[in-house]
Amino acid sequence: MKVRSIRLGNLPLKNNIFLAPMAGFTDYSFRYAVKDFGYGLCFTELVSSKGLFFGGEKTKELLKTFPGEQVAAQIFGSDPFYMRKACESEDLSQFKIVDINMGCPVPKVFKNGDGSALLSDIKKAEGIVKECVKSGKIITVKIRTGLKEGDDFSTDFCKMAEGAGAKLVTIHGRVRDNYYSGEPDFASIERAKKAVQIPIVANGGIFTVKDADEMMEKTGADGVMLARGAIKNPFLIQELLGLPKTENLPHFALRHLAILKEEKGTSRAAVEFRKFINSYFSDFSGVKSVRARLMKCNTAEEIESIIRTL
Ligand SMILES: Cc1cc2nc3c(=O)[nH]c(=O)nc-3n(C[C@H](O)[C@H](O)[C@H](O)COP(=O)(O)O)c2cc1C
Repeated sequence: MKVRSIRLGNLPLKNNIFLAPMAGFTDYSFRYAVKDFGYGLCFTELVSSKGLFFGGEKTKELLKTFPGEQVAAQIFGSDPFYMRKACESEDLSQFKIVDINMGCPVPKVFKNGDGSALLSDIKKAEGIVKECVKSGKIITVKIRTGLKEGDDFSTDFCKMAEGAGAKLVTIHGRVRDNYYSGEPDFASIERAKKAVQIPIVANGGIFTVKDADEMMEKTGADGVMLARGAIKNPFLIQELLGLPKTENLPHFALRHLAILKEEKGTSRAAVEFRKFINSYFSDFSGVKSVRARLMKCNTAEEIESIIRTL
């Protein structure tokens, strides 16, 4: 794919390859592990605007960053007051960029009118973007193409976001009903891209360099956002940039686990690392026979000793 720099208003980013927000995955430890792989921008996991307003330890943990990290905080909520207050909160003071989640399909979020539920009310969504922009942060928005099969909301939402002062929109090319399955709606992204001046980043189903090329060609988007593709193969970022792979998968996994252990201690690291074992080693030959043992480990050291045998 064509790698180039991208601007969020006055803020230039190094390139147009983004690492998606993913609850439970793109935490501090994962982002730290891939920090030198070269992406242009990454995102925290989604954080509740009300949680930020009322203050909570869990919220603070989700917002941990490291010096020099090019990262946006992603917030969710549907009340313009709390959304703006969240942008202005002390906990977000280290973030220049705040991304508004308008795509989360999870029932718990949707039922509250948050995440993808905002796609059903463009006026409300506009009010939120406008209030957040008043905070002085660089505001970006992440949407889906609609709620149900046949919907095509991308153009209207991108125009709305641009008019309300957002500096970039990421479009996950699927409707809410389809969660994470099916081919992305390339045409919906393409139409939206043509309708606005702000950069449009395309997301959905990018697992290989070929997928990224196809996404860029079919949509004309300004960049791509990698999600499950990056937690299955973190080196995909380097592959897209045409950089040599700097380590092998077991080495990367060990390094990631060490970061987690240092941050959270050996037992919690072992539990939290299980989901990454599933994603990193889903296609790795030789893991099948040890997977069950890996998933039962209670300390990081036990996991380390098994990974060293791979
Ligand atoms: C486990 C998981 C957690 C996710 N969490 C978030 C999130 O916190 N915020 C968000 O905007 N999208 C979230 N997403 C959606 C991804 O950012 C992305 O839009 C989606 O996975 C489509 O891209 P893909 O097909 O390349 O995986 C999540 C997806 C997954 C699989």
